[in-house]
Amino acid sequence: MSQRGYAAVYRRSIEDPNGFWGEAAEDLYWERRWDKVFDDANKPFYRWFSGGVLNTCFNALDLHVEQGRAEQLALIFDSPVTQTVRRFTYQQLRDEVARLGGALTAQGVEKGDRVIIYMPMVPEAVMAMLACARIGAIHSVVFGGFAANELATRIDDAKPRAVLSASCGIEGTRIIEYKPLLDAAIDMASHKPEKCLILQRPQAEAMLVARRDVDWLEAVAAAPPAECVPLAATDPLYILYTSGTTGQPKGVVRDHGGHAVALKWTMKNIYNVDAGDVYWAASDVGWVVGHSYIVYAPLLKGCTTMVYEGKPVGTPDAGAFWRVIAQHGVQTLFTAPTAFRAIKREDPTGSYLAKYDLSRFKTLFLAGERCDSDTLNWAQQRLKVPVIDHWWQTETAWAIAANCLGIEYLPVKPGSPTKPAPGYDVRILDGMGNMQPAGEMGDITVKLPLPPGTLVTLWNNDERFKSSYLDAYPGYYLTGDAGYLDEDGYVWIMSRIDDVINVAGHRLSTGAMEEVLASHPDVAECAVVGAADAMKGQIPVGFVVLKAGVERPRAEIINELIQFVREKIGPVAAFKQATIVNRLPKTRSGKILRGTMQKIADGVAYKAPATIDDPAILDEITESLHELGYPKGA
Ligand code: COA
Ligand code: AMP
Repeated sequence: MSQRGYAAVYRRSIEDPNGFWGEAAEDLYWERRWDKVFDDANKPFYRWFSGGVLNTCFNALDLHVEQGRAEQLALIFDSPVTQTVRRFTYQQLRDEVARLGGALTAQGVEKGDRVIIYMPMVPEAVMAMLACARIGAIHSVVFGGFAANELATRIDDAKPRAVLSASCGIEGTRIIEYKPLLDAAIDMASHKPEKCLILQRPQAEAMLVARRDVDWLEAVAAAPPAECVPLAATDPLYILYTSGTTGQPKGVVRDHGGHAVALKWTMKNIYNVDAGDVYWAASDVGWVVGHSYIVYAPLLKGCTTMVYEGKPVGTPDAGAFWRVIAQHGVQTLFTAPTAFRAIKREDPTGSYLAKYDLSRFKTLFLAGERCDSDTLNWAQQRLKVPVIDHWWQTETAWAIAANCLGIEYLPVKPGSPTKPAPGYDVRILDGMGNMQPAGEMGDITVKLPLPPGTLVTLWNNDERFKSSYLDAYPGYYLTGDAGYLDEDGYVWIMSRIDDVINVAGHRLSTGAMEEVLASHPDVAECAVVGAADAMKGQIPVGFVVLKAGVERPRAEIINELIQFVREKIGPVAAFKQATIVNRLPKTRSGKILRGTMQKIADGVAYKAPATIDDPAILDEITESLHELGYPKGA
């Protein structure tokens, strides 16, 4: 095996992190070099590149303009739902971002201020993130499919000085007005942002609130361009909220220096992508995949990135992805397996592929949820390119395990995201903190320190950072996933150890849904579990016990509960199934047996725990699930 082989690269990353990441950092422009690559002065809050000064936006845009890529395309916006294609060269994108940065500055936004971005998939969403990075404001993008209530929670936690939003988004054929959701969220929140910049889209113009709302285009037209502000490598770049075990989301904090170094490094080493390549992450800027692989990594690398406002199916058909790949010369596509399941369902033979020239297409990367072998094989057979499953999470910003194509293409084992990525010392621990032998399931952890680019803490909540990730096994980061390493060192992700579920590649908390159901006046207690779904991976199913004396029609209550979750969490929760039961199965100490309920829903063999209070309740649960059509395919 060559010196550049996976084993050698991986070993070096673990044994000599200073040398390894120090070298990777040479690929960026630093205003001031770092004092230390790895800084463990304030354990367990490890930092990377302390003392270094840089600007992420400069490295993502200005540097390329200066180094000869001014006329190269930086971003292509393809929106089948509005029949639009817009293209921006690096120079044009840099100038747009500089002006938007100037507009934010003119509205009083300063270094360190938070800015919430609540936007559909339009190029202005990318500009918004980069403009914040340019002036040192900390952005927090909230996914458009979340309801006003979720947005309000994030406004109260991040306390933004400004919000950047748009009048509407387009979901297939439906126009979703964003502005009423934003107005409602600001009404609900205790913290009031001073200014909202609103991008008016012609599909639905929004009413602007006097003195608070500013027309985006007017603000940009009037603003002088902003220069890149020098920032400490350890300054926060963004906060991204993600589901935890409660309704209160966790604000993952990312820094400038480590993030830029790691993400740029991943482009060649994991994705085997070079500057000038067209790279498409078919996700949304509201998710971590969008942050890392629509915005930061491809632009840091000097690629052309795609912003796609459409779906894999229905916009207009199951050939949508192939059309985009062919039309724009996409070499690498990154999406969630659910997108491929959706395509496969509509076009099982892949007949649409024949209509397009995919000769430039090189690789498909999948992540966000477990990739079933059927989907992987289907994609590989139809596309005839490597299909790479890789595993990561909002907290890490980049892959924890992958087949690192730019280092060495290892044999694929369908169902496994291959081996730990350089920088991640993955260990499987049992509940007592002992290392599990190969093949034995346990909690998947990463021996500290985590590599650069991963979360540095939770916003305003160092304690929750420690209790959520570090306290379970001192010296290790708890990923929240359970699984094992096989005898070849391949990682197998089997399940979550908390109540996070994965619906169409979207990470959701059943705990948050339970909080919403419990707030209904007729509900005494409830449980939500994620049942296996052939298309979306998992689908939430609610079980509710009504308060004594509630006599209203059950169907009416169930409809209200479904509406409740849609209104409080958002359509993205895809909460469409609930059933009313007399009691919930519990242990004698009162713990709800969600795991057992999930197994019943999935039609998986289960053994009722010895501590179960009353095994007969499981029969009622089984019957209720049958009525809802579970287990699917039974
Ligand atoms: N703004 C407003 N609403 C949104 C939204 C947004 N940005 N994104 C999704 N929604 C809505 C959808 O319209 C849908 O509403 P509905 O219940 O009224 O139909 C609901 O939220 C659920 O959305 P989703 O789970 O995405 O289901 P879908 O049926 O619309 O699409 C897929 C299913 C598989 C086609 C789609 O999820 C997909 O393309 N996923 C793969 C790519 C991806 O996004 N991965 C995420 C991380 S990599
Ligand atoms: P998110 O933070 O939304 O990216 O979700 C992260 C979670 O999604 C992980 O902790 C896993 O549970 C799951 N996940 C992501 N990628 C994969 C994968 N390739 N295989 C299995 N599970 C995955």
